[in-house]
Amino acid sequence: MKILLLQGPNLNFLGIREKSIYGDADYNSICSDTVQYAKTKGIDLDCFQSNSEGEIIDKIQQCYFDRYDGVIINPGAYTHYSYAIFDAIKSVKLPFIEVHLSNIHTRDEFRKVSVTAPACVGQICGFGPFGYKMAIDYFAK
Ligand code: DQA
Repeated sequence: MKILLLQGPNLNFLGIREKSIYGDADYNSICSDTVQYAKTKGIDLDCFQSNSEGEIIDKIQQCYFDRYDGVIINPGAYTHYSYAIFDAIKSVKLPFIEVHLSNIHTRDEFRKVSVTAPACVGQICGFGPFGYKMAIDYFAK
C-alpha cells in the first residue's frame, strides 16, 4: 500500500515555529519517524511539503496518476480557506485523512473551520505528530 503524507505551509518550520503549540520535533524527524512507523504496518509512505497552494494541488492531482492508495494531509492554514484544495481532494477520488498537530478547536476562532475536512474521510487533531501515526493505523486496518 502506497500512502502520501502531504504537509502544507510553514510545516517545514516545525521545531522552530511556536514550539509551545507544535512541539520541539522538526519536520525531517517527524517524517522519518512516521515513515518508519508506516513500514512496520506494511505501508510505503512518501512525504511532501510545500508552502505553495498550487504545488499542493499539483501534488494531489499527481497522486491520481501515481496510483496512491490514500493521502494523509495537513493543509496548514490553507485548511481554513482553500476551496481549491477542497476541489482537488474531491477530484482524485482517493481517501484523505486530515491531520492537525494542534487542536484547532481550542485556538483562534478562524481555525475552528476546516473547509477541506468535508472532502476527507475524517479529521484527527490535537495529538501532535502522533496524529499522523493514527492516520497510518486507519489505512493499515
Ligand atoms: C495546523 C493548524 C493550522 O491552523 C495552522 O495554520 C498550521 C498548522 C496544525 O497542524 O495544527 O499551520 O495545521
